Amino acid sequence: MSDFEKLINDFKQKIIEAKNSEEIENISSEIFGKKGFINSEFSKIGILSPEDKKKFASQINNGKQELAKVFSQVSSKIKNKELNENIEKEKIDVTLPEKEFKIGKIHPVSQVIDEISSIFSEIGFSVEEGPDVESDYNNFTALNTPENHPAKDMHDTFYLDNDMKTLLRTHTSPVQVRTMLKGKPPFKIIAPGRTYRSDSDQTHTPMFHQLEGLHIDKNINMGHLKGCLNYFIKEFFEIEKIQMRFRPSHFPFTEPSAEVDIGYKIENNKIVIGEGDKWLEILGCGMVHPNVLKNCKIDTKKFQGFAFGIGIDRLAMLKYGINDLRSFFETDYRWLNHYGFDPLDVPTNYRGLSK
Ligand code: PHE
Repeated sequence: MSDFEKLINDFKQKIIEAKNSEEIENISSEIFGKKGFINSEFSKIGILSPEDKKKFASQINNGKQELAKVFSQVSSKIKNKELNENIEKEKIDVTLPEKEFKIGKIHPVSQVIDEISSIFSEIGFSVEEGPDVESDYNNFTALNTPENHPAKDMHDTFYLDNDMKTLLRTHTSPVQVRTMLKGKPPFKIIAPGRTYRSDSDQTHTPMFHQLEGLHIDKNINMGHLKGCLNYFIKEFFEIEKIQMRFRPSHFPFTEPSAEVDIGYKIENNKIVIGEGDKWLEILGCGMVHPNVLKNCKIDTKKFQGFAFGIGIDRLAMLKYGINDLRSFFETDYRWLNHYGFDPLDVPTNYRGLSK
């Protein structure tokens, strides 16, 4: 056996005896590394005659191949063995205490929107939606709001462009326009959503929520409006009797227009809805103005109806005893934990489920 063959055999033996991946890595660089055995053998080639060079080179290459073969077998055996050992070791410890986690709560505004939607769905209203970013046309013009109306003032409306053609909707009434333009009467819809006005104090926030209602059909009149709102308020506050009054008002998009107040009293520092000598305004409403119907391509000789707009946040404050409107939008987890609702609680008014 030549010296070279002996060396190859010794390395083979070394590889076979390697016990773990650290050892096998070290042997790898000892043999195949930059300054390893194979390269140092090749560096001896320079001093040989051309004939010997060839012989010597092929000898090194053969040796290299032999070692590489043994190396790859042993190294994959070691890696597999170590992998299995690790899997064995990493058994899940089911006795470890679980990590703390918090379950979210439903925001009172979302809860109230669900409640209101289910109350109206019981009497045949479906839910529509519209975008927060609206055109001046849908928000004002189509709703019969004249060019110089105070609501169009920069102080109340957030305009999004210098031409005052795009804005954050100031009410949910543009959903009336969208609904009528895309379909054919009759319409019986509600539309909850965010609305925006440049206003902020204890009872006003720049973003708030409204719920629009629209019922257009043949022969719909103020009596239907009154009946519908009466039903809604009783269901929402879960009371048998309600004092309600219609105060004459003005909206460009309804004629006649009214604001609706409900009676209440204060008992033991708590507000009691339904009766009493005090009045609380909760919504605006009226018969849809013929100009609005015409703008929405409705035949005013055949169809008419009512619309209303309810302040959702105020209803939530009343029903669930929350004093400051601004707290709704401060995203304080402790507040939500206190006033929020369990996601699995079915709204009290959701009779559709238990029927
Ligand atoms: N859009 C009105 C407001 O924001 C409310 C309203 C809606 C009044 C529909 C009449 C009819 O104050």
